[in-house]
Amino acid sequence: MKILAGNWKLNKLRSDVDAFFKEVGTNLPKGPRYIIAPSPTLLETAVKTAKSSSVEIFAQNCHWEKSGAFTGECSALQLKDLGCTGTLVGHSERRQFFGDTDDTVKRRALAALSEGLDVIFCIGESKDERQSGQTEKVLERQLQGPISILKDHPTLIRPGQFLLAYEPVWAIGTGLTATSEQIEAAHRFIEQCLTHASVKPVPCLYGGSVKTSNFSEISRLRGVSGGLVGGASLSPADYLALARALT
Ligand code: PGA
Repeated sequence: MKILAGNWKLNKLRSDVDAFFKEVGTNLPKGPRYIIAPSPTLLETAVKTAKSSSVEIFAQNCHWEKSGAFTGECSALQLKDLGCTGTLVGHSERRQFFGDTDDTVKRRALAALSEGLDVIFCIGESKDERQSGQTEKVLERQLQGPISILKDHPTLIRPGQFLLAYEPVWAIGTGLTATSEQIEAAHRFIEQCLTHASVKPVPCLYGGSVKTSNFSEISRLRGVSGGLVGGASLSPADYLALARALT
């Protein structure tokens, strides 16, 4: 099943959410899996409003503890309480600007899975890392968390509950999409790492300047299960166009 996941980042107010789902509502083609990750203040509205559509509402992050002295964070339990069905973890903006590390991302993912939430676990190399030929080394390191989760907690995870997203940092929000060859090579390498560790491959999305004009081609590349889309997921017309590109 192909997947379209929208990452709304720090955008929109509650009234925009209503308008978005009014337009997207029942117009999404059947078949693909649809996800949108709004920011925390929009989650409750999004969960209620998305009920008329087939869109699942994910958070953009979650903390590893259920509760406690962690100002500014949300727990997986709180997200579940709100009606969210999943969360992103390890987005490069979290890693770059908010100090997330391979270890904290793994802990966030485990907490979400333990509450029964789905997880999109993001990985990807920076521009410097790609230019200095370290892409595979970085991906291999970032995959250690997902591999140990999938290996050590097989009963925790339902099919489709754990997804990876390969997002080269240099392609995020820059308009610079990775080439088809770069995307296929990275996805092939990710699959090899999982297989090498005796882990069954999980769906892997591509993210980084996905647009309505390139998504049809990207989503059909070998090893690509769909897209994690930032900017182009904000407008309802574009979200619908991205959905149609999958079918
Ligand atoms: P972009 O963002 O589509 O705007 O490049 C993707 C992401 O950060 O998930």
